[in-house]
Amino acid sequence: SGYFTFDPGFMATGSCESSITFIDGAKGILLHRGYSIEDLARHSSYLEVCHMLLHDATPNAEEFLEFQDTITRHTMVHEQLNMFFHGFRNDAHPMAMLCGTVGAMSSFYHSDLDVKDPEQRVRSAHRLIAKMPTLVAMCYKYNVGQPFVYPRNDLSYAANFLNMMFSVPAEEYKISPTVERAMDRIFILHADHEQNASTSTVRLAGSSGANPYACIAAGVASLWGPAHGGANEACLKMLEEIGTVDRIPEFVARAKDKDDPFRLMGFGHRVYKNHDPRATVMRESCHEVLAEMNVKNPLLQVAMELERIALSDPYFVEKKLFPNVDFYSGIVLSAIGIPTNMFTCIFALARTVGWISHWHEMLSQPGQKIGRPRQLYTGHSKRNYSPITK
Ligand code: CMC
Repeated sequence: SGYFTFDPGFMATGSCESSITFIDGAKGILLHRGYSIEDLARHSSYLEVCHMLLHDATPNAEEFLEFQDTITRHTMVHEQLNMFFHGFRNDAHPMAMLCGTVGAMSSFYHSDLDVKDPEQRVRSAHRLIAKMPTLVAMCYKYNVGQPFVYPRNDLSYAANFLNMMFSVPAEEYKISPTVERAMDRIFILHADHEQNASTSTVRLAGSSGANPYACIAAGVASLWGPAHGGANEACLKMLEEIGTVDRIPEFVARAKDKDDPFRLMGFGHRVYKNHDPRATVMRESCHEVLAEMNVKNPLLQVAMELERIALSDPYFVEKKLFPNVDFYSGIVLSAIGIPTNMFTCIFALARTVGWISHWHEMLSQPGQKIGRPRQLYTGHSKRNYSPITK
């Protein structure tokens, strides 16, 4: 009709119908397929959550074992994918490598590129969930100049990822159960978050019929920014910049200053205006891991003091700017030895199931349309062209 709603930032636009994830930002509620994130994070496993996000079903033990087996059998990437890594500078940002190599998967797995076929869609979803940890660990190994480590089928999803990250041929890597559990929890807490920027990007890319690997590469790109998945990396960089507890007041004052663009990274959320339920569970893991590892890193003292201030300072309390999930996940990742520039890749690994579940849901719905927002044009009105040479 020519009429449309002007809604920059999509603050009030519902772009789709979805039965995957429910969020009540005002009450701090997050449900996946009806189950609370607190219950899932405390009592289930990441692969169980993957199964329910993708298939809308709570599997019985037998079905779950079958799903786990399918994922485990797809963890290796095609050997030729290694070559792509060797084309990158070895100090390339891991997210740059991840964008490229996930997209490159479209050139390997030709048998699941027909997006109209639900069986092929599910197969590509399984492949992506299975191979993301392998690709992410390869990004790290390439950065540090160590040989790639093949996946191990005898380990859990989280333990296999940690092993591909940290084991070296010369010695066995021993995985602490607390660290394995914390890693799995980070995966669960980042698995899905309804129509955030990267998921909306995946849906928009997928709405044109693009293949799943290209769509997930688009999601990785969208996640990279510091206002979204880059927040945990930006948060750790900020802690490094602050350095010591005595410098915190200076940075808090900057965060409150309207004329200073500086923001406390890892604080605030577009949807949660009460508390971030993911942060509550992540905070428990954070304290568990720090206690077990007896970490004496001064940055963690800075983080704990910032947390105290943000939870008590009237500016943050009134604006409802509490620590979000990425504040705590960044601290945990750092404590278990994962370098800061890998944080967003780990978010991408975990969010892949959310992205692909939304993509699959969208393509399963009848009457699915290409996404095509409108704009308010603010440019010139029609004018006459004269060739530049005149
Ligand atoms: N530090 C200081 N002030 C802040 C912050 C912050 N981190 N976040 C928001 N504000 C202030 C902001 O200046 C504004 O003040 P005023 O009303 O006086 O103009 C008010 O709070 C509302 O901010 P907004 O930008 O309108 O809020 P938003 O809902 O558009 O933005 C956000 C949400 C997450 C982008 C923002 O809080 C932010 O930039 N936080 C830091 C980055 C971050 O941690 N992002 C990760 C989000 S969780 C992971 C994910 O879901 O991707």
